[in-house]
Amino acid sequence: MNELPLHKINYMNFQNIKIELKDKIAIVVINRPKQLNALNKMTIEELHNALSHFINDAKIRTIIITGSGEKAFVAGADIKEFADFDVERGRDLAKSGQEKLFDFIEKYPKPVIAAINGFALGGGLELAMACHFRLCSENAKMGLPEVSLGVIPGYGGTQRLAQLIGKGKAMELITTAKMLSSKKALEHNLVNYVFSSEELLNECLKLGSLISNNSPKAITAAIEAINAGFDNQVNGYEKEIELFGNCFGSDEFIEGTTAFLEKRKANF
Ligand code: CAA
Repeated sequence: MNELPLHKINYMNFQNIKIELKDKIAIVVINRPKQLNALNKMTIEELHNALSHFINDAKIRTIIITGSGEKAFVAGADIKEFADFDVERGRDLAKSGQEKLFDFIEKYPKPVIAAINGFALGGGLELAMACHFRLCSENAKMGLPEVSLGVIPGYGGTQRLAQLIGKGKAMELITTAKMLSSKKALEHNLVNYVFSSEELLNECLKLGSLISNNSPKAITAAIEAINAGFDNQVNGYEKEIELFGNCFGSDEFIEGTTAFLEKRKANF
């Protein structure tokens, strides 16, 4: 893949997403407002490509994903694209999407914040749940309505919703296809904060700027350690010990501890 530094990426190549850079934060806007930002194959591909570039750009410390327009974050996978799929293509849709975007974001080495600015349904809520944490606007509505279409969530929703809000509530939300208001989503810990539509992005940027003060290498290790606790194949405590130890070998540990002892701000 093209490894050009960020400022040289020709963002005009993206048809379905827009990128805005603010300080050390990349704002990725899913830009299909007429389709309520539904995730088609090309959008998933473009999100993957943009995020892949940011991994290697030390100037980018946090990613914010949001939707364009005032109505939707993402209203789901693009129903028009998969309406005629058979069993095999259905499996492939879920598998390739999970690998390319949803698992990719969950394991992403820099914090990814979902700014849910309206409907986050089906694949849209699954995208938000793959992000490391979520903020939403007061008008946001969230749900996994797939069973109303005769399918189930396929981008990790059955797993991540149960992890985030508990098994019983996830069972209820998925089997009823109900939508949660922003207030209920906050009560269920599905989102960390609710803000007005006008304030939402700014509040995400404020959190991004707090993240930028801290050691990027330690943040990457923290994401991996937290994720390990939700991976049946890994002992989270052992992973934490390993990653904690590794931090002692990093230049950023020397800078962080030296700065503390010298009573100055660390420069990461
Ligand atoms: N896929 C494709 N197009 C979509 C879409 C989607 N998921 N959601 C909305 N759109 C399109 C509509 O077809 C419509 O396009 P046209 O103007 O060309 O007809 C346009 O966006 C505007 O939508 P509505 O007219 O329906 O707007 P509304 O305000 O009346 O309703 C809504 C808004 C409640 C979000 C409604 O659009 C809706 O229910 N959308 C589908 C939500 C859904 O079921 N998502 C799950 C998808 S399946 C999935 O995600 C599978 C998976 O896990 C992998």
